[in-house]
Amino acid sequence: MKILMVGAGGQGKGHSARYQQMPGVEVVAAVDVQAELLAAFAKEYKIPNTFSSVEEAIAWGQFDAVSNVTPDRFHYPTTLPLLAAGKHVLCEKPLATNAADAVKMAEAAAKAGVVNAVNFSYRSGGAMQKAAELVRSGLIGEVRFFEASYLQSWLHQPAWGEWTTTPQWLWRLSSAHGSKGALGDVGVHIVDFATYVMDLPVADVSCRFALHNKAPGNKIGEYVLDANDSATMQVSLANGALGTISQTRVASGHLNDLRLKAYGTKGALEVSTSGELGTLTACLEADLEKPKWQSIEVAPVTDNQARFIAAIRGEDGPRAPDFARGAEIQKVLDAAEESAAQRGITINL
Ligand SMILES: NC(=O)c1ccc[n+]([C@@H]2O[C@H](COP(=O)([O-])OP(=O)(O)OC[C@H]3O[C@@H](n4cnc5c(N)ncnc54)[C@H](O)[C@@H]3O)[C@@H](O)[C@H]2O)c1
Repeated sequence: MKILMVGAGGQGKGHSARYQQMPGVEVVAAVDVQAELLAAFAKEYKIPNTFSSVEEAIAWGQFDAVSNVTPDRFHYPTTLPLLAAGKHVLCEKPLATNAADAVKMAEAAAKAGVVNAVNFSYRSGGAMQKAAELVRSGLIGEVRFFEASYLQSWLHQPAWGEWTTTPQWLWRLSSAHGSKGALGDVGVHIVDFATYVMDLPVADVSCRFALHNKAPGNKIGEYVLDANDSATMQVSLANGALGTISQTRVASGHLNDLRLKAYGTKGALEVSTSGELGTLTACLEADLEKPKWQSIEVAPVTDNQARFIAAIRGEDGPRAPDFARGAEIQKVLDAAEESAAQRGITINL
């Protein structure tokens, strides 16, 4: 299996290292618009071919599948030609920067008949998958209420680098650079996480944003810092369940923590993760009156990249979320953005 890496930044490294662990999978080429960075990346990961555009790579053509790990606003324009060329594509999240583009990508992928996947990477957590399985088995009955959050704090501390001087973080703060803020960057994960575990689509959403002044004139160099730092949503699910979904970059004390508490008619469960296996606890019928929460054992599961490769090979097994799912989540984000622009009015999906 010959892979083309489109984007040689942080995720380019992560995806390349992961493919290189897989038998029979080879990263044969990489594309980036930054020549020096691309050369260093190709050297580090021993990638023999490099190109400055997707079009050049397509003209060369000697690859089967692609990881698109460019910044959000480039997913749409760089993925469409790859699909038209008949290549399988695993695209980073968010699939696009708006639902209309995400739907076009899902339609193009279906038309091309290729394997398509969105890297909602927290699907790789054993606790999340076990929680999804238990909800589907009826263990907690019908979900009636929920609380979900994705907490980061990189605006308050430099664990992942100093954001004021690092393009990788600055583009995430600027709408002109295609960012939809905390909502688009990590909200996309927690909306997928929560609705996948609870197995219910969103019916309507009301959302508020917060944006803090972080630099003189809220601008650093070419980056106008106008994308939301925090977003809170009130969400109704298709069965009438109500809940909150919060996402932020200012939760001091949390580097990268996702959590869902789902309350059902027969019990409740709490799943949380910082990106690894995660933990799962439940309070079930016999324990509801006490109330006593017990740990549930969880096991590792395969990640999206392994699922993507298995799907291309036609092997049985669980699948990664596809572009249609990416577009479904994007519709929730668009509705949240529309709501926030009107100070939290309810938008129906
Ligand atoms: N699934 C996850 O958990 C997760 C985690 C981090 C980032 N991401 C996503 O991965 C994507 C990349 O994030 P990152 O942190 O690696 O960003 P980054 O800024 O570190 O790297 C992006 C790279 O893409 C290159 N690029 C820009 N335009 C290009 C084009 N047209 N063609 C080819 N290359 C181009 C840039 O020069 C840069 O080297 C984003 O969409 C982000 O949201 C996902």
